[in-house]
Amino acid sequence: MATTFVGRRAELAQLTRLLRRARLVTLCGVAGVGKTRLARRVLEHAREIPVDLTVMVDLEPLDDPDALPGAVARGLGVGSCGDRTAGQGAAAEQVAAMAARLGGRRALLVLDTCDRVVDAAARLATALLRAVPGLRVLATGRQSLGVPGEHVHLVRPLPGCDAVALLRDRLGDPPGLDTEAARELCGLLDGVPLAIELAARALPGRPIRDYIAALGDGWEPAGAAPVAAADLPERHRSIRAALGWSHGLCTPRERLLWARLSVFPGDFDLAAAEHVCAGGPLPAWAVLDAIGGLVDKSVVLRADLPGAARYRLLRGVRAFGAEWLDRLGERDAVRRRHDDYRKWRIGRGER
Ligand SMILES: Nc1ncnc2c1ncn2[C@@H]1O[C@H](COP(=O)(O)OP(=O)(O)O)[C@@H](O)[C@H]1O
Ligand SMILES: [Mg+2]
Repeated sequence: MATTFVGRRAELAQLTRLLRRARLVTLCGVAGVGKTRLARRVLEHAREIPVDLTVMVDLEPLDDPDALPGAVARGLGVGSCGDRTAGQGAAAEQVAAMAARLGGRRALLVLDTCDRVVDAAARLATALLRAVPGLRVLATGRQSLGVPGEHVHLVRPLPGCDAVALLRDRLGDPPGLDTEAARELCGLLDGVPLAIELAARALPGRPIRDYIAALGDGWEPAGAAPVAAADLPERHRSIRAALGWSHGLCTPRERLLWARLSVFPGDFDLAAAEHVCAGGPLPAWAVLDAIGGLVDKSVVLRADLPGAARYRLLRGVRAFGAEWLDRLGERDAVRRRHDDYRKWRIGRGER
């Protein structure tokens, strides 16, 4: 079912402009922030780039990198490459067949949800871009492809008024909407479209304030069952599933750091993360790498301020980490370390 697209007008214009000169653009961002939806929107405006052929391939079901060229070939309607084949020779043949199919056309290929096959997507995009001069690739995922020439575009949550407009739309524009409560709810959901849509499905027949009270610290009420909705991919039927997918993409050290970072209520710097979160399988020297990995995977947000980078977790991401910290049985210990560290910094006149 087609739903209304909300906001992101300037961003869309910026992306179509960017795709005029850039041949590989990757939309990165946290689960449910709107990467796929924005990529679809770019396709709808493809004439402004301009391109005359658009193809979108959903890579979400793939977990085998060797199956990627075949899946993209099928998306391009290259029948003979439909079977799964492995090895560099086979991949080169598939690239040649896809290049022949695209010929001299100006095409835009969207590789959607590259997360589980990111290296294979990087290789394929590079090979195709080399072989087809008129091709542009728009990739989406929690992380960038990491190849030269790639332009990374960070997809951010919706600003307040667009977030409320999305909630209002998904509720069917009810006349008596409690706007104040809607604004508050969207703020607690950090403007993340998936969280707003899931809330909208749970709201009918329930005052927004009740839902806010049930939310606790996260983006969905504790113990909320996944919504029964055939129109949503399984990993978008609950916040737990969406963030669980991101969690599955992390290394064990990144997961442990994600859990421990949940004790920070606001933003923090690297020194704080090292003092509070190091220990056991995560030595202090490994925190920098792990935090970099979490930033790359759109779990942790980094702001490069003068002097030092500061990091922060969105509310729902923090709540997900806190749940893991509980499961690990570390909550009290890490909170204590956080409290002691905070007092020590305050004692030195620092934040
Ligand atoms: N700008 C938007 N306007 C309307 N709906 C949106 C917008 N952005 C995202 N959505 C909706 O929110 C949900 C999550 O968006 P999606 O693009 O699938 O997230 P992502 O690809 O980042 O995980 C989808 O149902 C999508 O249609
Ligand atoms: Mg997506």
